[in-house]
This record gives sequence, C-alpha cells and structure tokens, in this order.
Amino acid sequence: MKLVFLGPPGAGKGTLALRMTKILNAPHISTGNIFREAIAAASQLGLKVKAIVDAGKLVDDGTTIELVRERLARADVVDSYILDGFPRTIAQAEALSGFSNIDRVVNFDVPDSVVIERLSGRFVCRKCGFNWHKTFNPPEKDGVCDKCGGEVYTREDDRAEAVKKRLDVYREQTAPLIEYYRKKGLLVDIDARPDVDSIVENLKKLLRT
Ligand code: AP5
Ligand code: MG
Repeated sequence: MKLVFLGPPGAGKGTLALRMTKILNAPHISTGNIFREAIAAASQLGLKVKAIVDAGKLVDDGTTIELVRERLARADVVDSYILDGFPRTIAQAEALSGFSNIDRVVNFDVPDSVVIERLSGRFVCRKCGFNWHKTFNPPEKDGVCDKCGGEVYTREDDRAEAVKKRLDVYREQTAPLIEYYRKKGLLVDIDARPDVDSIVENLKKLLRT
C-alpha cells in the first residue's frame, strides 16, 4: 500500500510511521529525516537547507520534489511506502501524481494545544532518529536513547518561535491538501489525540490490515 501521512507538525506522523512501516512492510520515507541527516552530514544539500529547516520554513518545491522523485525510483518502494511529510504543498502533490500512484492519504487530526505539548517535550536521537517525549515516552536514562545508546537532543525547529512558524506554514501551505485529497476520494481522517497504541489499532482498522 502506498500511503501519505499528512498533518501538522507534532501530530505524530513520524512516530506512527515507524510503527506502521513494520505492520505494513512498507518503507518509511520522511523528507524531514532526509533533510536532518543531510544537515548533520554537512552535505551540499544539508548546507543549502539548514537555515530554512531550523527556522521552520519549507524547503523549495524543486529541491524537495527531486529528492522524492529519486527516492521513489528505487526498487524497494515499487509496491508500498509511507511518505511522511511529503507532499506539503499543492505543487508537490501535483508533481507526485506524475511519478507515483498513491492509494490513501491519512490525515492526522490534532488541535494546536496538543501539537505544542508534544513538540515542547520532544527529544530526538542523533543516531537512530527515534522521537522520545519527556512525559509521554521518556528514555530510561536521561539524555540517552534506549534503542541505540545514541545521544538525544532537542530539534532546533522545536523552539517556540520555530514551532509557531511551522504551524503558520502548515495552515497556509499544507492544510489545503486536506480538501485537495478529499475531493480525489483518497483521504482518510484519523483522530491523532489518543495514545500511540490506540492510534495504531485505529489505523489498522481504517486501512483494513
Ligand atoms: P518534518 O520532520 O516532517 O517535521 P513536521 O512535519 O513539522 O513534523 P514533526 O516531525 O515535527 O512531527 P511528527 O508529526 O512527525 O510528530 P512525532 O511523531 O515526532 O519536517 C521538518 C522540516 O523539514 C520542515 O519544517 C521543512 O523545513 C522541511 N521539510 C520536510 N518535508 C518538506 C517538504 N515536503 N517540503 C518542504 N520542506 C520540507 O511526535 C511528536 C512528539 O509527540 C514526539 O515526542 C512523540 O514521542 C510524541 N507523540 C507522538 N504521538 C503521540 C501520541 N499519540 N501521544 C503522545 N505523544 C505522542
Ligand atoms: Mg516527524
């Protein structure tokens, strides 16, 4: 199954994608993770996008579309994938329809108050990228990832100012995709407020696996 996970920052797209990738046997592709890895490696792409990502703005459509086009040309994603954080603009959605046929778009529905609570407490592992939360899912030992022993850190774009920018950008540029995909009959809505296990169960039912 070829899925798109759509939703505001902090809705839980990455957390749920990591759970569903195993259940559906569908590779997880996160444009945000790809940009963060490029930034950490100080590659040409990383240097180009660092200031944009840190400020909570969108990387330009041309760069982002090319990146996803190349990734979706690889053999492991011929039958299935979970696209997390792409598309984020109508232009990206139009481009995607030119090189891949998606089956469903899952719309993660959460109010801003939940977004802020989740992002203000998030820690990310530098090594494996896992998203921890100081209250909802803390690592056993402060500052260390339980999964791989890596160091955990707070994302630059989880600062209050950048979160506000990301929410504005989401409303202006990404939220219109909800109606765009609803009109195409591809959208399914999920209540993203409950705990992670409940959302996994609801998603399984929704996607009939
Ligand atoms: P990206 O990395 O995609 O960030 P985002 O969309 O803002 O989403 P987040 O990763 O912040 O949140 P999430 O929904 O994955 O939530 P998570 O599971 O971590 O993009 C980053 C940047 O890259 C963009 O701002 C932009 O600059 C650039 N970019 C990326 N894609 C682009 C594109 N297509 N075009 C242009 N630019 C692009 O959960 C959040 C926290 O809550 C965690 O701590 C987690 O443990 C906790 N949590 C999750 N679910 C629950 C739950 N159900 N209950 C309790 N806690 C929960
Ligand atoms: Mg994410």
